[in-house]
Amino acid sequence: MCGIVGYIGKKQASDILIEGLSKLEYRGYDSAGVAIIDNDSINVMKCKGRLANLEQKLKEAPLKGSLGIGHTRWATHGEPSDVNSHPHSNEKGTISVVHNGIIENYIHLREWLTSKGYNFKSETDTEVIPHLIDYFYNGDLLDAVMKAAAKMEGSYAIGVISSNEPDKIVAVRKDSPMIVGLGKDEYFIASDIPAVLNHTRDVYLLNDKEFVVLTRDGVKLFTEDKEQIEREVYHVTWNADAAEKGGYEDFMLKEIHEQPKAIKDTMTSRVMMGKPITLDDIKITKQQIENINKIYIVACGTAYHAGVVGKYVIERLARIPVEVDIASEFRYRNPIIDEKTLMIVISQSGETADTLAALREAKSHEARVIAVTNVIGSSVSREADDVLYTWAGPEIAVASTKAYETQLIAMYIIALFFAQNKGTLSEAELEELKKEMLKLPEKAQKCLNHKEVIQRFASKNYMHKDIFFLGRGLDYAVAMEGSLKLKEISYIHSEAYAGGELKHGPIALIEKGTVVIALATQDDLFEKMVSNVKEVTTRGARVLGLAFEGKESIEKTVDSAIYLPRTNPLFAPVLSVIPLQLFSYYVAVQKGCDVDKPRNLAKSVTVE
Ligand code: M6R
Repeated sequence: MCGIVGYIGKKQASDILIEGLSKLEYRGYDSAGVAIIDNDSINVMKCKGRLANLEQKLKEAPLKGSLGIGHTRWATHGEPSDVNSHPHSNEKGTISVVHNGIIENYIHLREWLTSKGYNFKSETDTEVIPHLIDYFYNGDLLDAVMKAAAKMEGSYAIGVISSNEPDKIVAVRKDSPMIVGLGKDEYFIASDIPAVLNHTRDVYLLNDKEFVVLTRDGVKLFTEDKEQIEREVYHVTWNADAAEKGGYEDFMLKEIHEQPKAIKDTMTSRVMMGKPITLDDIKITKQQIENINKIYIVACGTAYHAGVVGKYVIERLARIPVEVDIASEFRYRNPIIDEKTLMIVISQSGETADTLAALREAKSHEARVIAVTNVIGSSVSREADDVLYTWAGPEIAVASTKAYETQLIAMYIIALFFAQNKGTLSEAELEELKKEMLKLPEKAQKCLNHKEVIQRFASKNYMHKDIFFLGRGLDYAVAMEGSLKLKEISYIHSEAYAGGELKHGPIALIEKGTVVIALATQDDLFEKMVSNVKEVTTRGARVLGLAFEGKESIEKTVDSAIYLPRTNPLFAPVLSVIPLQLFSYYVAVQKGCDVDKPRNLAKSVTVE
C-alpha cells in the first residue's frame, strides 16, 4: 500500500514525480504529495484525495527543482487529510520523507522523540522518521538514515531528502518493495517498475535492509554495515505499453481482454505436447515430491480463490492431500508443519504481508516453499525455495483478473508436474489434459465474445442490493471469485454459496426478485446444481446460469443462460470466471464506480 517515487537528474522533478505517481496510484489514492529541492531548500506540496488534486495545485503554484520525492497514500495511521499526507518533514523543514509500510513501534518512538523536545503535527506513524533522522543527523544523511532505520520496527520503503545535502536522495527498504531506476544522467526510486518505465528499463532490485544513495553521478548501494554492494542490473523486457490502458476505458477491461494471451504466455515452454512438463525455476526433485505428505496452499483474496481451485486439481490429479488457507489465518493458527510439508504461496504482487509471513512460518519449520507470483524479484520469489512465475504482465487494476487466470494455469501446471513425477496419471492421460489445456487461450477468447449479453444482463440488474453466486465443486471456487469481484468494484453486497449448503441457512435470504448467478459446468454435479437452482427459482429468484455448450437443458430452469465452449470440466474455472469478471465490470460501470480504483482498497496489501 502507498506508492513512493524519487527523482534526481536534470529535468523538472515535479513532472516526473507526478507521472511516476500516476503509475503507482493503484497502490493507494487517499492523498498525494511531493517534496522538491530548489535553491537548497525543500518545498512540499501535498493534499488529500486523488493525484489529480495535487496536479491541479502544482499547476496553480509550480514547484521548481530537479530533485524530489513523491507519495501516493493508502491511509493506515491517521485519516486521509492534508496534514496526514506524505511527505513528512522535520520541524526545521530540512528533511523530508516518503514512506510505504508501517512503523510498528512508532508510539514508543514518538514518546521518546517528544521527550527530546520534538513536536508532531500528524497522526501518522511515518512522522517519527524525519524526526529520528533529524535527531541522528550529524552532517551525513546516509549515516543518519541508517541510525534511524536501526531504531525502526515494522515494514518500510523510504525515500529521504535533505536541504543540507541538496544533491542526494537516500533510500532504504525492509519488507516493502522498492526498485532503483538507472537512466542516463538521471536516477529514480520507486515502489514498482511501471513508475520508471518511460525513462529507463534498467533497474536494481533491492533486498531488505539495503540502503541506496542517489546522486547526479550515479547510484551506490550499501549494507546496513555501510559496506558497498555490487548489484547486477535487471533489464525489464516488457514495454511501457503493458502498463498503459491501450485504448480501453479502464485497466480492468484491458486486463480482462489480455487473458487469452496471459494464459498462453504462462503455459509457453512449460506445457508442450509429447514433452514432460518443464519448470525451470522449480528444483524440487522427484524424490522430494514423493515424500510430500501434505500441501498447504496459502494466499489472500483472489489468489486464495485460485488456491481453492489448486486444491481440487492437485488432489484429483496428483493424489496429495491439500489444505488451502487464508494467509492471515494460517500464520496465527499454529499449523502442523514439518519437513514433509510443502507450501505453495500464491501472490500476484509477491509482497502481501500475510502471505510473506506464512511463507516464513513454513520455512522456519523446514518446509519447502513454492511461490507462484507475477513479479520478478518480489519478496516471495526471493524467499521461496522454488518459483513459478505467472506471465500475466503488469496488472494495474486493483481488482485482479488476468493474474487470477494465470494463477489457475500455474495450479494446473503444478498438479500435472506432480502427477507426472508421482505417476498418478498415465502418459496418455497427461497428454490428453495438456492437449485440452493448450486450447484454453482460444476458448477464453470465445468467452469474451459474450460481452454484449453480459452487459445487457448487468444493465438490468445493477441496482440490486444483494447478488448471490452458487456453484458446486470447482464452480463453487469460481463463485467465490465472482462474488469478490462484484463486491470490490460495484459495492453490491454479494455472497457465494456451495449449492448443497443452501438449505442449511442461506436460502432464507432468497425472496422474489433476488438475483442469483448459478454455475453449472461440472458434469457430474449438473443435475444436483439444477435442483439447487430450482430451489431458489421456486422462491422467486431470477437466475443467470453458466453452463457448457450442449447443456442448453439448463434453460428450462434459469431465466437466462450463458454458454461456455466445452472443455474438460477440470479446466472450467479458466473459462467460467470470464463472464463473471465482465458482469462485475459492467455493473460497476453502470453504477458510475471508479472501476480501477475501488474505494478503501489498494492493489498490494503490504501491511497486516
Ligand atoms: O498480490 P496478491 O496476489 O498477494 O494480493 C492478494 C489480494 O490482496 C488480492 O488478490 C485482492 O484480493 C484483489 N483486490 C482481488 O481483486
